[in-house]
Amino acid sequence: MRLRVTPGSSITGAVRVPGDKSISHRWLILASTARGASRLVGVPASLDVRSTARCMATVTPPARPALEAWATNAAVFVEDGGSTWNCDPLRRALPALEVEGEGRDGLIEPTGPLECGNSGTTMRLLMGLLSSLPFASALTGDASLALRPMERVAEPLRRMGADVRTSDGRPPVTVRGSSLAGIDFTSPVPSAQVKSAVLLAGVAASGVTTVREPLPTRDHTERALQALGVPIDLRTGTASVRRFQHEGFAGSVPGDPSTAAFLVAAAALTGSPLEIHGLALNPTRTHFLEVLGRMGVRTESRIEDHQLGEPVGGLFVAPCDGLTPVRVEPHELPLVVDEVPVLAAIAAHAPGESWFLGAEELRLKESDRLQAIAVGIRELGGHAADEGMDLVVAGGGLEGGRTDARGDHRIALSLAVAALAARAPCEIDGFESADVSFPGAAGVIRELGGRVEVTG
Ligand code: S3P
Repeated sequence: MRLRVTPGSSITGAVRVPGDKSISHRWLILASTARGASRLVGVPASLDVRSTARCMATVTPPARPALEAWATNAAVFVEDGGSTWNCDPLRRALPALEVEGEGRDGLIEPTGPLECGNSGTTMRLLMGLLSSLPFASALTGDASLALRPMERVAEPLRRMGADVRTSDGRPPVTVRGSSLAGIDFTSPVPSAQVKSAVLLAGVAASGVTTVREPLPTRDHTERALQALGVPIDLRTGTASVRRFQHEGFAGSVPGDPSTAAFLVAAAALTGSPLEIHGLALNPTRTHFLEVLGRMGVRTESRIEDHQLGEPVGGLFVAPCDGLTPVRVEPHELPLVVDEVPVLAAIAAHAPGESWFLGAEELRLKESDRLQAIAVGIRELGGHAADEGMDLVVAGGGLEGGRTDARGDHRIALSLAVAALAARAPCEIDGFESADVSFPGAAGVIRELGGRVEVTG
């Protein structure tokens, strides 16, 4: 699928974005392992979340029909090949997913490999969950996931007592669970997935499990566990848990700030005001707004609600009348790890050089994102380079051209946003990868005034 972007748009209006992907993975796992019924509203149809739903359906007999139906038929498809069911709250009620759990003890051995698709979060979180269960499981994924590092999760789980095997450090992974003992683990990499896998194992382990992280990362697992009554001790950079079996719960998944970042960037680049409602405003996810503020993009957020420990509210983007180049320091990286590509897309239009320093983790994502975004910006007629751990974007705008998403949803969406402010039309091949996190993105951008067209 190719996206053609014509200059001259104004991205403006009021919108909701699909539910948060990180939160949804966790709540789906927690609902399937709860004792009793859970009700989740606003779980997004993004392909990654469906991978978690499909895997959990395989191991959770009472929840299987609901999760399977969700995984295979979560979306109402429209012309752009994606879903728009939650882009306009005034027209449709958000669908609810009801999951019946029998606790962790109710999970059963899968009959075949658990297929995680493109989703690293699915694989890493499930490794943690499966480590304490008395059976063997195999986890596989697509060609991109097959290249991603899994030892960072396997190693602490082995120390807790599980038999976890990787294939030269990568998927496929096999996990033979057993009774686990708590550990005190200092993660060498700042990674919410590693932290979450160890905490999910920790709530099934004897004694205390402590995870220390070198820099703060997103804390959705800690917030959900705390809201569910798990004894959890939280200090800066440290979380400790003890064994606990939680009950069923209800929650409405707030909008995904990493998806909202594309629309915020699109509004800023087209100098338009924008409102985004029902958004997750967890401070471990909104640091990109601080970076945008340094670039001259003014936003205001208002917390209106809480869902399972997560602050939820509205975000208001003021019309932007000029950009400033930015320097993002290594210590900020974990808090903008998913937003560097879109920040780089905006930086391509700033007057001067922007730097993203110590961003090497981006080379281990769904693609080598440092390289992919630099190449994409160059193919659209701008200047950018990835050098070792850093990315430099020269600014000065884009001349227009044709590029490729390289199979990566965040690269597809970042380049689409960058293209909105180019001096000539742009084409992005492989735009279907956007469905991994933002199904129906082209339709939403068009509804907000974007001159975009899907072809091929
Ligand atoms: C995620 C954590 C981050 C992030 C990913 C989602 C999560 O990955 O990039 O998109 O849900 O925990 P790392 O833990 O590898 O940094």
